[in-house]
Amino acid sequence: MNNSEIKILIIDDEKNIREGLAESLNEKDYKVYQAKSSREALSYLNKNSFDIALTDLKMPETDGIEFLEIVKEKQPDIDVIIMTAYGTVETAVEALKKGAYDYLTKPIDIKNLRTYIKNLAERRRLIKENLDLKSKLRKRLELDGIIGTSLKIKEIYDLIDQVSQTDVTILLEGESGTGKELVATAIHRKGLRKNKPFVTLNCGAFPETLIESELFGYEKGAFTGANTQKKGRLENAQSGTIFLDEIGELSLKNQVDLLRVLENHEFTRLGGLERIEIDIRVIAASNKNLNELCKAGKFREDLFYRLNVITIVLPPLRERIEDIPVLAEAFLIQFSEKYNKTKKELSKETMKLLINYPFPGNIRELKNILERATILSKGKTIHPEDLPPSICKSSPYSMKMEVEIGSSIEEMEKELIIKTLSKVGGHREKAAEILGISVRALHYKLNKYNIIDKEAE
Ligand SMILES: Nc1ncnc2c1ncn2[C@@H]1O[C@H](COP(=O)(O)OP(=O)(O)OP(=O)(O)O)[C@@H](O)[C@H]1O
Ligand SMILES: [Mg+2]
Repeated sequence: MNNSEIKILIIDDEKNIREGLAESLNEKDYKVYQAKSSREALSYLNKNSFDIALTDLKMPETDGIEFLEIVKEKQPDIDVIIMTAYGTVETAVEALKKGAYDYLTKPIDIKNLRTYIKNLAERRRLIKENLDLKSKLRKRLELDGIIGTSLKIKEIYDLIDQVSQTDVTILLEGESGTGKELVATAIHRKGLRKNKPFVTLNCGAFPETLIESELFGYEKGAFTGANTQKKGRLENAQSGTIFLDEIGELSLKNQVDLLRVLENHEFTRLGGLERIEIDIRVIAASNKNLNELCKAGKFREDLFYRLNVITIVLPPLRERIEDIPVLAEAFLIQFSEKYNKTKKELSKETMKLLINYPFPGNIRELKNILERATILSKGKTIHPEDLPPSICKSSPYSMKMEVEIGSSIEEMEKELIIKTLSKVGGHREKAAEILGISVRALHYKLNKYNIIDKEAE
């Protein structure tokens, strides 16, 4: 169905009027139906859902008000516009009370009617689009909680869909707050083991000796204080998924132990002899680049190769700023429900600040900012003052540029282009807008100065 199409029903017993109105609304975005009686109108209303009904109030065999009530009951969202002759304005007012959207007095001025319907249609369209976006967002949110419409996040959706249907080991890399845990959970929930446990071990949260007992569990008497037998997380994750978060924090000794389990699919509890076989999926995450850690001698290469069969890199938010408005909308809906408040809107200025903020804490930070703003902002709109001072005061493009006396204007221009591009994550339209030149001119300059930006790579 064409979503932007507006369906209009014209109801009038006078053929001339009916056809005249229909003719004047003959536009490609409208689909116009004509009914000569309330009975005919009802049969249309039973089959189609309309945006607008334009109806005469006085028709033979019909009480206009009663008819209006029936229409509104059948299609509560419809905008009913009453056409009334001079002298019956009182009835029209009654109609408004019963839920009519407006009334127009006859004779109808065709030119005015066109503009009138055009505005109304535009309003309907906006409402429709808004509802559409909301329901799409809600669906995704209910599905796996991952939101975004950027190309980069779409690639991640695809990867999740692909890998979740396999048992392959996954390594998730990305800065703090980019959604690694969210993605790990989504892979598990969509996957073959969705009805089995999902167990997390935060490798950064325990010292070396505790990691062992957390992973493998222990037998009674394995060490002082081991008063009972305790199962470890590997065992708890049996048949399901273990999520090894912050794996870059594991000590080299722990890395050896883990590698052994991954290779042999079995282990023994601390202080025990029994070999316990396991069948689990492994997902690991790190906000450090494991390859670099390998080079620095802090991470074992053999373990690294075991883990990164498939690596999913979650891009920082500043490299997918298109997602900021969509995420913001979703979070505002979420928090309005959580705090039982009407959903807030972002003022233009606020949105601008958010789009230009580098978000070192990524999506987690955006989420926190909006939770805070939902609570603090007084009216329906979130203004810059409702953001944390650090963002509110940050001038949109605050990256500084040093100019050395002796540089040529061309050198400065080149430097300015590079800095601007990097500030907007390589987004050329955005960079051109900030620089005050056309995208074409930017392309020309990129070539001229031999600048290779991210988009071109
Ligand atoms: N694409 C997304 N859509 C909606 N919410 C998201 C998205 N990505 C992250 N979030 C939310 O942001 C917060 C941080 O995400 P998560 O904990 O998964 O990040 P992380 O990469 O594991 O961070 P850290 O490295 O600090 O542990 C969570 O509340 C999560 O729900
Ligand atoms: Mg995490």
